[in-house]
Amino acid sequence: MNVADSEVVMGIMHSQGYRITRQVSQADVILVNTCSVRENAEQRIFGRLGHYRRYKHQNPGIVIGILGCMAERLRSKLMEEESVVDVVVGPDEYRKLPGLVESAAKGTRGIAVKLSRVENYDDIVPLRTEGICAWISVMRGCDKFCTFCVVPFTRGRERSRSVANAVREVGELSARGFKEVTLLGQNVNSYHDGEHDFADLLASVAGVDQSVRVRFTTSHPQDMSDKLIETIARYDNICNYIHLPVQSGSDRILGLMNRTYSSEHYRNLVKRIKSTVQNVSLSTDIIAGFPTETEDDHRMTLNLLEEIRYDGAFMFKYSPRENTPAFEMGNSIPDEVKVRRLNEIIELQQRISRENNQALVGRNVEVLIEGESKKSKEAWTGRTDTNKVVVFPRENTEVGDYVRVKVSSATSATLFGEPTNVLAGRPSGTTERAAIVFPDSAQSVQDRIDR
Ligand code: 5AD
Ligand code: SF4
Repeated sequence: MNVADSEVVMGIMHSQGYRITRQVSQADVILVNTCSVRENAEQRIFGRLGHYRRYKHQNPGIVIGILGCMAERLRSKLMEEESVVDVVVGPDEYRKLPGLVESAAKGTRGIAVKLSRVENYDDIVPLRTEGICAWISVMRGCDKFCTFCVVPFTRGRERSRSVANAVREVGELSARGFKEVTLLGQNVNSYHDGEHDFADLLASVAGVDQSVRVRFTTSHPQDMSDKLIETIARYDNICNYIHLPVQSGSDRILGLMNRTYSSEHYRNLVKRIKSTVQNVSLSTDIIAGFPTETEDDHRMTLNLLEEIRYDGAFMFKYSPRENTPAFEMGNSIPDEVKVRRLNEIIELQQRISRENNQALVGRNVEVLIEGESKKSKEAWTGRTDTNKVVVFPRENTEVGDYVRVKVSSATSATLFGEPTNVLAGRPSGTTERAAIVFPDSAQSVQDRIDR
């Protein structure tokens, strides 16, 4: 979501004549898009600000701005205690950014953090980084109010773009050669534009161009309707991959979290998904050490992971966030207990992901080629429609090709193989089930920021 928001910000600044530089030392304006979802994300930003202070020292004319959820949450702290910050702009106020930057360059620091009930940046053309995969924000905000989460407070109420507008954007992306779009929303499957629900949106987007794959994230179990599951099954170019955060396997903890479903409801939902969407791949989010979590509660989470056998998981230690209802429940689980539980969860999930992946050795997967492998210029990297990273020799294939790859080996995170043939330029929806693990979720997000 923050990558997509940064692209919106770059689009706004670009339209005002600003250009992007890869050299921070050459920048006149440094904008840092932030996340508040866990405390370590915020801490990292304070670390970065210390780093940018150096540039400001060398060139006092530089304008430094803090954008996103942290701006909304910590506006006064950032303005009062961080003299290096000139501009603070919340997630719904990016249109004001050029004006605020201009004023700051003349010496007047500024804040804009009001949340909106309608802002969705419908008419802004995001400045996308190179590649064949694009993010498209289709809804913003969240009305679910899980008790641990700051998002409803930092990003405000749910609002959706129109189907027609999203379809137009996908058409433009397809004309520019993009091969994959990911529809984004904090709660993407509660999308509603007043007339159409998320299943309608997905079907319309999938109909734009059969050679463009469609992904979506993040789905809430409460809004996973049968109509939506059937829509995913019906279209070859809608990826058979659903990120479906469960957070905990204990009904008592799910209740305290206000997740609005029981573990039984979730299990039944997974059964319905697996029986309707062939070879579907599922991943999840887990929080370890929520207030009052007992060893029994923790074991229920491990049991659920064993039973569902997700292909991947983002796994987190509970992080108390001020002003959320869970904050009032205290932070009763000692850090060493949280860390131990988290490590048990990660270890189990890694084993499951490795086993799921190794079951694929000798089988064929369909891969969309995204670019050069990090480790070798001679190899491509791409993903299956089930979101597995696959690395294989380039041979006579190109970025944007769909190729069939025979898997020869696998780790918990990557499949390796040999291309067997280039497909007819569009997904066939026949990829066999595989797995991926995100062992250090915070790190993978950081990698993306660094990239
Ligand atoms: N502590 C730990 N993890 C959290 N998440 C959200 N808020 C917190 C918190 N306070 C996790 C949830 C969510 C993901 C985006 O981040 O698992 O699904
Ligand atoms: Fe936060 Fe997701 Fe819950 Fe919304 S549904 S409150 S974004 S965890």
